[in-house]
Amino acid sequence: MGVTRNRLYIWFLFVVFFVTDLVFCRTLSGDPDPCDSTKQREFQKLRSDQITVLINGYSEYRIPLLQTIVASYSSSSIVSSILVLWGNPSTLDQLLDHLYHNLTQYSPGSASISLIQQSSSSLNARFLPRSSVDTRAVLICDDDVEIDRRSLEFAFSVWKSNPDRLVGTFVRSHGFDLQGKEWIYTVHPDKYSIVLTKFMMMKQDYLFEYSCKGGVEMEEMKMIVDRMRNCEDILMNFVAADRLRAGPIMV
Ligand SMILES: *[C@@H]1O[C@H](CO)[C@@H](O)[C@H](O)[C@H]1NC(C)=O
Repeated sequence: MGVTRNRLYIWFLFVVFFVTDLVFCRTLSGDPDPCDSTKQREFQKLRSDQITVLINGYSEYRIPLLQTIVASYSSSSIVSSILVLWGNPSTLDQLLDHLYHNLTQYSPGSASISLIQQSSSSLNARFLPRSSVDTRAVLICDDDVEIDRRSLEFAFSVWKSNPDRLVGTFVRSHGFDLQGKEWIYTVHPDKYSIVLTKFMMMKQDYLFEYSCKGGVEMEEMKMIVDRMRNCEDILMNFVAADRLRAGPIMV
């Protein structure tokens, strides 16, 4: 009798886990091979009327703000889907389940929302190509910046007229420090050359360029990003500028 009950209990647990998994369709990580070039989509065949938002999330204490930001993006008709890329490997599954539940429950719009647990905490992972992204434009952003709907739509209209450029709201400049005799990253009152990943709109091809191309040199630069735990924004600006021979656009 005891054995049967145990077995039933195990079945019960199995069913609960299985169903929970279906209900909370969080994804554990991205595609198995994001650089599989047969999966790279042709720009012309992608949706042009909407964007995909890729938000990086890491801090558990910023979850309430993350929720507000996702709700705000989801209420814009130009947003097709929102992918929250969770990069903190020590966050408990249960918290992520709650977060996913809240994100889908409290977001008013029709944009689809997914929560993707990144398989590594590398900042390079925010630029991985993802097969579910079906729009020409992607918006890379952080979990601490709230942008109003009109600014978002304005940025998209600027990007549509300049689809090869990076378009962003927060900018920096490069400069040469005469004392230290080295190139630095700085704020300049009247020029800019870098847009930050706080809000960076671009064509999704650059995700592929960043993650899958550039050979050994690019691998080495991505290792610097990992070592510094920073500067992925600078590297993406390099990737786009190298392709285009032009800088980003500030909106
Ligand atoms: C989910 O939402 C509830 C109600 O607003 C809140 O109390 C809770 O902290 C949220 N949890 C997460 C993980 O977002």
